[in-house]
Amino acid sequence: MNIKISKRLQSLPAYAFKEISDKVEALKAAGVKAIDFGVGDPSEPTPDFVIGSLAGAGRKHANSGYPSYIGLKELRQAAADYMKRRFSVALDPETEISSNIGSKEAIFNFPEGFINPGDIVICPSPGYPPMKTGTIFAEGVPYYVPLLEENGFLVDFENIPEDVLEKTKIIWINYPNSPTGAIANAEYYGDLIAWARKHNIIIAADEGCYIDIYFDEPPISILQAAKELGLGYEGIVAFYSLSKRNNMTGYRAGFVAGDKAIVDIFKKLKTNIDSGTPNIIQEAAIVALKDDEHVEKMRGLYGQKRDLLLQAFEAIGLEVRKAPATFYIWQKAPNGDDIEFAKRLLSPEIGIVVTPGSLISDVCEGGLNPGKGYVRFALMPTIAEIHEAAEKLKKFGDFTLE
Ligand SMILES: Cc1ncc(COP(=O)(O)O)c(C=O)c1O
Repeated sequence: MNIKISKRLQSLPAYAFKEISDKVEALKAAGVKAIDFGVGDPSEPTPDFVIGSLAGAGRKHANSGYPSYIGLKELRQAAADYMKRRFSVALDPETEISSNIGSKEAIFNFPEGFINPGDIVICPSPGYPPMKTGTIFAEGVPYYVPLLEENGFLVDFENIPEDVLEKTKIIWINYPNSPTGAIANAEYYGDLIAWARKHNIIIAADEGCYIDIYFDEPPISILQAAKELGLGYEGIVAFYSLSKRNNMTGYRAGFVAGDKAIVDIFKKLKTNIDSGTPNIIQEAAIVALKDDEHVEKMRGLYGQKRDLLLQAFEAIGLEVRKAPATFYIWQKAPNGDDIEFAKRLLSPEIGIVVTPGSLISDVCEGGLNPGKGYVRFALMPTIAEIHEAAEKLKKFGDFTLE
């Protein structure tokens, strides 16, 4: 047999982290304990009360059966209650909400429901990879817009060329933003909604992953902005996930909410693709969504971690920018070379793993890689490990002399 990978899968970018992962492996082989700020997967456990609910949920759904594709009625109601409590947004759980099996799958599959071959999907760079890979698999074309510090890391939709807009069906946005930590305000959302409606473009807002991980004012939802500005939800859909809000990455639970015409197509799409989040997990998601107290505690912990690390950056003369949300720090490399900075942090005396920004960003018009010159710290290590990292940085992190 001649087994060949499909052209579509082959077309996806190769693993760009080889140089860094080789260094991490070499560190481990040399017995050096690496402090890993690389991957954004929470190290804290799922709340005990959520775990405690699982056995009861298992008994309630003793006759396994396929789960509800679009989400149990109670889960959609819990999602609607959460949106009301958090953003004062009223959504009909029957028509304006569907569950998803975590945002990754929903984001990857979403373009399949709305685009035809050759249609353009606007994706931020740096951005969450399924936005572009899902577009490519649906035979669409990603158009990358750079997230730049001078624009507050907001997608500059006003300057997208007219010929691109003619073919564009979807714009992805992600605020609070991974990896820059930026948020968007109601004015920005109002302008975006007016622009998108003028050009008949769906706004797909991947906002729910980090919206409850903030340090100052709670970030707003685009749906909240739309409501406050009296614009309605037409053409807008928001993606929510319990992965980071509830330390439930392994559970695969979340929901989408917004324009019922979009939610309706999304339901049809997912009914054809997946079999829904297991009912037991949907029950756990209901319990998790109803509680805000554990989220408050988690925010406090990320705040402590962030401050510890930023104090160390300041002490060694790195430029410090306090982002308002997410558990990422998008740190400028001292000499503008993110790969060199990441490698230096991996030297045996420091042993800190970060993600170079240029490797998680797509090249935009004019050959610009907006991640160049930045590295991403994900605040996943424990407080004790971050103390250790801070001490090592203060002792060995003399990057200003280079
Ligand atoms: C920006 C962003 N959106 C969505 C997700 C998806 O999360 P999940 O598929 O676990 O719901 C992630 C996960 O890292 C993310 O960083």
